[in-house]
Amino acid sequence: MNILLTGGAGYIGSHTAVSLVQQGYGIVLFDNLSNSRIDVVDAIEEITGIKVPLVVGDVRDTELVANTLKQYETKAVVHFAGLKAVGESVEYPLEYYSNNVEGTISLLQAMKNEHVKHLIFSSSATVYGEPEYLPIDESHPTKAINPYGRSKIIVEEILQDLVVSDDQWGIGCLRYFNPVGAHDSGVIGENPTDIPNNLMPYITRVADGALPSLSIYGDDYETPDGTGVRDYIHVEDLADGHVAALGFVLNNTGFHPINLGTGRGYSVLDIVNTFIAKTGKKVPYEFVNRRKGDVSSCYADVSNAFKILGWKSKRDINKMCISAWNYQQKQKGRR
Ligand code: NAD
Ligand code: WQD
Repeated sequence: MNILLTGGAGYIGSHTAVSLVQQGYGIVLFDNLSNSRIDVVDAIEEITGIKVPLVVGDVRDTELVANTLKQYETKAVVHFAGLKAVGESVEYPLEYYSNNVEGTISLLQAMKNEHVKHLIFSSSATVYGEPEYLPIDESHPTKAINPYGRSKIIVEEILQDLVVSDDQWGIGCLRYFNPVGAHDSGVIGENPTDIPNNLMPYITRVADGALPSLSIYGDDYETPDGTGVRDYIHVEDLADGHVAALGFVLNNTGFHPINLGTGRGYSVLDIVNTFIAKTGKKVPYEFVNRRKGDVSSCYADVSNAFKILGWKSKRDINKMCISAWNYQQKQKGRR
């Protein structure tokens, strides 16, 4: 059975590609390579022993998406393609709405034309805005605090309208918390081209000596050590969550929002200290002002994922730090 992965050459897409192949699915990657590299195909082959097809194209090209769905007799789509940097979305909102909203509409149109009605959508915990209570369950109200978050909420609403219009659609809307880490092999991972925005890739660059020190945004939050708390989830667990969700939407219709996290929060200092302890590297840091738009704590109620998918995370914070560092080291060797 063939599954199309839009944005399949990216960070989460490539890990999900590996998990799907290892579970016996046929896959096709569809990516415009705006934030990824063509050699991810070789890396996936290195891990799985299988060469997967990559179609280089933009999801806004409805005809190309439709032709790809037809050519590969695709049964379902996992839709990762989109832009994801919060700060950049404030600066370039039109780019974000075009890639994330227009791109999804184009994909849905192509799917509808080709009668492919099983979809997994990459949403985000960012749709919850400032948490009103913790842990956050899927009934928590949604609220956008930046154009990126708004693009995810708009798409979620479009998907809900779609299932009302046609009850054959089965859609899993996966709200990821904070994906980190890399595949055990160290050949795929998160490799931002610019200075990283996110905590873990920033730490690995500091540990590596590529950046001088980590700025910790705020030490006066109402958390045990004053630094922000998040629900970090290992990307391989996230990938397994997609396999479970795919199995679910192939057999169920309707719109299903599902949190993917561990259910447990760690502070910035927890992550930094674990990273130092597990890698033996130095990570110089300084406390600076809070980052605009950051919340104090955010972590998931993951009971729904276990109830409907039978999935829960397995990998701990040690593994998250070690795998991120291992990937960084291997990348250096390959450059
Ligand atoms: P990524 O940038 O590594 O992967 C996205 C991929 O989509 C890239 O390979 C990029 O080249 C491709 N792409 C972008 N626009 C495209 C377009 N118009 N047409 C075709 N391909 C396009 O990002 P990621 O971290 O793997 O995120 C995947 C998805 O998960 C995104 O939708 C993101 O919003 C969502 N998400 C990510 C996180 C996170 O922290 N990484 C958290 C929550 C949600
Ligand atoms: C984590 C913690 C920071 C960098 C973002 C998006 C969210 C989702 C995941 C896509 C916070 C602190 C960070 C640094 C720091 N992405 N930090 N110094 O902000 O929770 O979520 O990525 O959907 O939408 O907003 O993740 O990794 O940026 O930050 O102190 O250099 O680390 O303040 O407490 P965030 P993050």
